[in-house]
Amino acid sequence: MVEKGKPRSIANTSGANARPTSRFSLIPVVALQFYRLSVLVLGIETSCDESGVALYDVGLGLLGHALHTQVAMHRDYGGVVPELASRDHIRRLPVLIRQVLEESRRDLSQIDAIAYTAGPGLAGALLVGASVAQGLAFSLGLPCVAIHHLEGHLLAPFLSGSPPELPFIALLVSGGHTQLMQVSALGRYELLGESVDDAAGEAFDKTAQMLGLGYPGGPALATLAEQGSATRYVFPRPMLHSNDLNFSFSGLKTAALTALKRETAGHKAYADLAASFQAAVVDVLVSKTCKAMEQTGVKRLVVAGGVGANTRLRAQLSEKARVSGFQVSYPKLEFCTDNGAMIAFAGALRLRQGQTDGRFQIRPRWPLSSLSAL
Ligand code: KG4
Ligand code: ZN
Repeated sequence: MVEKGKPRSIANTSGANARPTSRFSLIPVVALQFYRLSVLVLGIETSCDESGVALYDVGLGLLGHALHTQVAMHRDYGGVVPELASRDHIRRLPVLIRQVLEESRRDLSQIDAIAYTAGPGLAGALLVGASVAQGLAFSLGLPCVAIHHLEGHLLAPFLSGSPPELPFIALLVSGGHTQLMQVSALGRYELLGESVDDAAGEAFDKTAQMLGLGYPGGPALATLAEQGSATRYVFPRPMLHSNDLNFSFSGLKTAALTALKRETAGHKAYADLAASFQAAVVDVLVSKTCKAMEQTGVKRLVVAGGVGANTRLRAQLSEKARVSGFQVSYPKLEFCTDNGAMIAFAGALRLRQGQTDGRFQIRPRWPLSSLSAL
């Protein structure tokens, strides 16, 4: 499957592991945009339980993407089993890469750079993506771009036809993170607040598990909530009035468990519990997000990450945006959860700045605010 690439002309010889940098890294941004050159970036995402691959062309946009979710494999265990996740990524990536190239009518020799998720995430899963990306790049003589998974999520709305303008506030709500970020420019991310314990997605998943909805439970809990009453159970709104922009969700999950233990099992009770729980999480997310908009005076909001697919969250944020006079952007639903397209896109942006990386590295823990500007 690996073909010899076209010759790369310019060598970056700093360090033993240096490899040729892309010729495009030397072309000024303006020139790239003006001539709309075809610069093709292969994106690889393997931070957790989804193998995602995509091809992004700087001139033409997203050419194709493919995703394999490991949900069925992990379901029996009630959560992600890291070793199984890594092994499955090894199996899936070659197939997905072939599929995306075929569907995009491109071949390996046409790729200009490979972007991969270097962190944060499960170390073993990240290692698979990094190995495939670095191995392929080395054999083709291409540059590699190490991408921060959350930057990928944050830039996902830019894959749509009407990308948000800068500056904006980002609400990042995934299975592993709940953060409010101020984005003054691409690559400049300032943390305003975050969860001090469980992430919102994690709380959704754990509560769904209690209700017997399987893994990952977020979407299933949201579906069940549509049939229930959001006011039957009065759950706490943790840290709603704290004097900061932080969140806490682990107590809410315990409150849901306590209510569940008092209930006789039944569809109606479970649906009410799901709806009441969801309402509490969404209320806190919306309230803190609005506080961040007020405090910073920024007039645009981007919602990213898997929980950003939640219908109630979207409806309430859109309503607040209408009343308070700010704009809100969401990624397309398919790019809310983990995917290769957001990694390929972030890779194209960092490649444009010459931010390639010859080192083999993964960063399971990696603060978003430590990234260099774009
Ligand atoms: O961003 P993502 O795909 O992966 C991480 O980077 O963590 O987010 C996955 C999380 C899971 O916790 C999942 O249950 C949650 O997003 N999720 C939802 C919904 N869709 C996905 N939570 C609530 N409502 C949804 N509709
Ligand atoms: Zn994610």
